[in-house]
Amino acid sequence: MCGIIAYTGTQQAAPILMDGLRRLAYRGYDSAGVVVQNRSKLKALRAAGKLENLAARKPESIKGTCGMGHTRWATHGEATEANAHPHLSNDQRVAIIHNGIIENADQLRTRLSNEGVEFLSETDSEVLAHLIRRELDSAENLLDAVCNTLKIIQGTYGLVVIDSEQPNTLVAARAGSPVVIGIGENEMLVASDTTALASHTREVSHLLDGDVALITPKGMQVRSLDTGLREPQTTQLDEHTAETGRGEFPNYMLKEIFEQPESLARTLGGRLDKRFNTVRLGGLNVSARELLDVRAVKILGCGTAYYAGLSGAHMIESLARLSTSAEPAAEFRYRNPVIERDVLYVVVSQSGETFDTLAATREIQRKGGQVIGINNVVGSSLAREVDGGIYMHAGPEISVASTKAYTSMVASLALLAVYLGRIRDLSPEAGGQIISALEALPAQVTEVLSQSEEIASVAAQVQNAKSAFFIGRAAAHPIALEGALKLKEIAYLHAEAYPTSELKHGPLALIDENMPTVAALPNDDLLDKSISSLAEINARRGPIVVITNANDPRIEKLASHIVRVPDTHDALHPVLMAVALQLFAYHVANALGKDVDQPRNLAKSVTVE
Ligand code: AGP
Repeated sequence: MCGIIAYTGTQQAAPILMDGLRRLAYRGYDSAGVVVQNRSKLKALRAAGKLENLAARKPESIKGTCGMGHTRWATHGEATEANAHPHLSNDQRVAIIHNGIIENADQLRTRLSNEGVEFLSETDSEVLAHLIRRELDSAENLLDAVCNTLKIIQGTYGLVVIDSEQPNTLVAARAGSPVVIGIGENEMLVASDTTALASHTREVSHLLDGDVALITPKGMQVRSLDTGLREPQTTQLDEHTAETGRGEFPNYMLKEIFEQPESLARTLGGRLDKRFNTVRLGGLNVSARELLDVRAVKILGCGTAYYAGLSGAHMIESLARLSTSAEPAAEFRYRNPVIERDVLYVVVSQSGETFDTLAATREIQRKGGQVIGINNVVGSSLAREVDGGIYMHAGPEISVASTKAYTSMVASLALLAVYLGRIRDLSPEAGGQIISALEALPAQVTEVLSQSEEIASVAAQVQNAKSAFFIGRAAAHPIALEGALKLKEIAYLHAEAYPTSELKHGPLALIDENMPTVAALPNDDLLDKSISSLAEINARRGPIVVITNANDPRIEKLASHIVRVPDTHDALHPVLMAVALQLFAYHVANALGKDVDQPRNLAKSVTVE
């Protein structure tokens, strides 16, 4: 969840670290800090709050060509300056930055305190600085000292360490939290994700769990804690990784919402096969013959990725007639799930680093199940660990609230549904219908986006509500869940989604003129039944915002506001309706003056449990 950046080379480190932290701020943003090797001393600066507070302290004034920076998402201890990273040993010789959780920190703190160490923060991470410093007294070098320390700690880490007595040297280690090394000419960088590296180099190497790397401007040496030295693999970054500017948009969220025609076109690009009315999915690594043996599909993800998975389950059931369900990855992995040979497991994640999604993947693979991934970040942990999959190619998503990644997830799941359907009973004609609908999707998203101003005025009508309901039936229920999540996340309004059919079983008790309901209302077989539910809400004076492609006079009578979306294939309503709901949540949050890109308490990539 925290952002990590480190540099060793020939240029001044501090400006590079600050630039890296700006690119990583979406990972965590409650405090930040840098440390630079300045002659034979470590000079550190930290500040609580947003990165501007650190920038105001002029870190660029610290001269030196080797250093590291950190932006924090608090797990242990509040967001104070003392708890901000880097943490230093008492003699200021060793500094560390850490992403993850040290589970045995309490015992280690007690032991170190008894030995006379003075703790300056409440964090679990600080023990690492003191332990490594202690090991340096007997170890031959920093690499050995770090390896010895890692053997006694339990937990997860993406870690970078610097020693004032080993110039231009960094040691990085990974267990459960991503660490990627950028390889430049006479310079090397370390980061928690590639977004911070792409403006410096395209050549990167991902550390694997259990790796410890010694890094100097000339290169790196990687040691596995289990198996000893290993030859690091390098990969080239995707051409879109460096695209992290906001352009003319006031924030990343609005930029990413408006990028969806292009991001969807990239997800679909080269994959629609109109000749055979199917799709091409090169990276699945599962043959059509093997897929014929699949009896059921299980989709896993967290948050928005889980909701996209729920929509995917509806699509696969209806297009491929395969029994499909979706479940939150964290719940799945803790219930000792039965893993079956003829079930296809699909894990969905924008970042490819979400801890619970990765843990679920490993649990399935340990038990012999086959896992494919739907993932945005090329080379992420998930992308490397799954047996095959579909890259979304949505481009970097910076805003904490997922928007363009969500629609690309749904589009990727639609591709999978068509593929599975066409090797089963989906007729060429029915395959052709959804392919044409997929093809039309980017332009239809543009149509929804053109209503941004109207949606802003609808948002203005409900921004003062304390709470809102989101409803949808059957395949529209996951759309309601996603709409409610967006509103909670960025507007801090309580929002609850439930299937429309549940109205009379409880929620109706809360309906009055102060409780708005936002309804996802596709023009499908259930339209009449849903309209009856709207009538029941209307009879209790509940304001209703309807997102629909139906032209039905009854809706005009019942709804306080209608947002129209274009007609599409039944499977693809989640894409068009979600875009309208993203704009709705955005405009409510914006009108309330919230920081939409960095909502309180959240972080983009949840790399801890
Ligand atoms: C969505 O708006 C959220 N910020 C969050 O639910 C997110 O989708 C979830 O943490 C999963 O992330 P992932 O797609 O990177 O795995």
